[in-house]
Amino acid sequence: MKSSEAEVRYAGMHSQCGRVYEEARRVLVDGATHPTRAYPPFPIQVVSASGSHKQCKDGHDILDWVSMHGANLLGYSHPSIVQAVRDQVGRMTHGASAHELEVRMAQQVLKLFPSGEKVRFTGTGTEANMLALRLARLYTGRRRLLKFQGHFHGWSDAVEVGMGLPWEAASNGVHPALHADTIVCRIGDVAALEAALSKRDVACVLIEGGGAHMGQVPVEPEFVRTLRKLCTDTGTVLIFDEVVTGFRWSPGGWQRVIGVRPDMTTLAKIAMGGLPGGIVLGKADIMDGLSRQRVSGPSISHSGTFNGNPLSLAAGLAVLKIAETGEPQRQADEITDKVKRRMHAALQERGVSGAVYGESSIFHVYIGECAQDPTEYRIRPPATDQQILGSGMNNDALNALRRNLIYNGVDCWVRLGITNAAHTEADVDRMTEAFAKAVDTVIEDGLMTLRKG
Ligand SMILES: Cc1ncc(COP(=O)(O)O)c(C=O)c1O
Repeated sequence: MKSSEAEVRYAGMHSQCGRVYEEARRVLVDGATHPTRAYPPFPIQVVSASGSHKQCKDGHDILDWVSMHGANLLGYSHPSIVQAVRDQVGRMTHGASAHELEVRMAQQVLKLFPSGEKVRFTGTGTEANMLALRLARLYTGRRRLLKFQGHFHGWSDAVEVGMGLPWEAASNGVHPALHADTIVCRIGDVAALEAALSKRDVACVLIEGGGAHMGQVPVEPEFVRTLRKLCTDTGTVLIFDEVVTGFRWSPGGWQRVIGVRPDMTTLAKIAMGGLPGGIVLGKADIMDGLSRQRVSGPSISHSGTFNGNPLSLAAGLAVLKIAETGEPQRQADEITDKVKRRMHAALQERGVSGAVYGESSIFHVYIGECAQDPTEYRIRPPATDQQILGSGMNNDALNALRRNLIYNGVDCWVRLGITNAAHTEADVDRMTEAFAKAVDTVIEDGLMTLRKG
């Protein structure tokens, strides 16, 4: 079956989703509120979700491999989270005052992330990074920020730079003055890092845990150890963005796995049990830049109506108590290992140039020539422009694969898939079957070149 036929079949099966989309297009730009949620002919409209599945308005069961953009560790509608939120919603959704959940949550986070001494809650992961930057600037008295090519830290002005070629350019709409002080380095380039930091005018280095795009371009731990040393030697604040890897790579995140302690860490997603919110934690002398009771020195301004919202903290605490055991991470890693091996085999059996790889509970599909031995399943694509941008990949094929997965009842971005502890062996079977079908369709469409012989 070709994609065009699969699309017609999908449209016929999802008439109610299609009708909602017709209305959505009139009031929402592109008919959705996130770029990943709009695709042709129209997206599914989800009405409920539990475990690893969700149900669309037409009553079809969809196997989910997006896991709330990474915020879902235990599975949708996990009973502990549902109960915690239910209990809290009747008590108070916002008290406009200090509350004890803030203390309990801060204690739990610091127990799992001993690199931090004090905590501040924010509204989102984007805000957590904004706050960390501001604190680092106050602490060091320096203006500049260093980040890495392709590393995503939310959509605020200072970090929306280095996301595409030319690497020094910011995203459209960002005022040039707001990124003039942002230096963009290539991951692994120790000489460039040394040159930039040796001037001692960089306030902080921000790095995405696991590597660009949730680990699509992995970072070698050795490089992070060098980075740690250079930051210490030059008085530069090292910030780990663990918005995705926090509580996922291990109960103590990426930093526990690679054994490197940053000065500050930003968290969100799993931390708030899939509800909105973010966290900054770090050394007390840096975090104290927030204090209004400081005896000496200036402090920064930070407010936010929903900082430490009781509903989010109730959900977060429920998750973190379970995440602390390491069991959900172990289960999700195990299923990821199985699914990536089987998806990788589906590509190899058909002679498609590409690989399925990744670490922890996130896998990445790469379609294109791969220099590495794909049987390793842990390929480490070189940090070339093409790899970081994904332009070395066959993007038409990846987009078509994503669409054909949804036509086969599976929602997965394909460039990456995120597993949670509710995924089962049966889900692995269903995913592999749907992926193989999607690959066959995309080959039939003529979008993927096959290896000769
Ligand atoms: C590594 C990383 N940092 C920050 C963010 C931004 O978090 P939020 O969407 O909560 O603003 C994201 C979101 O996907 C992320 O992946």
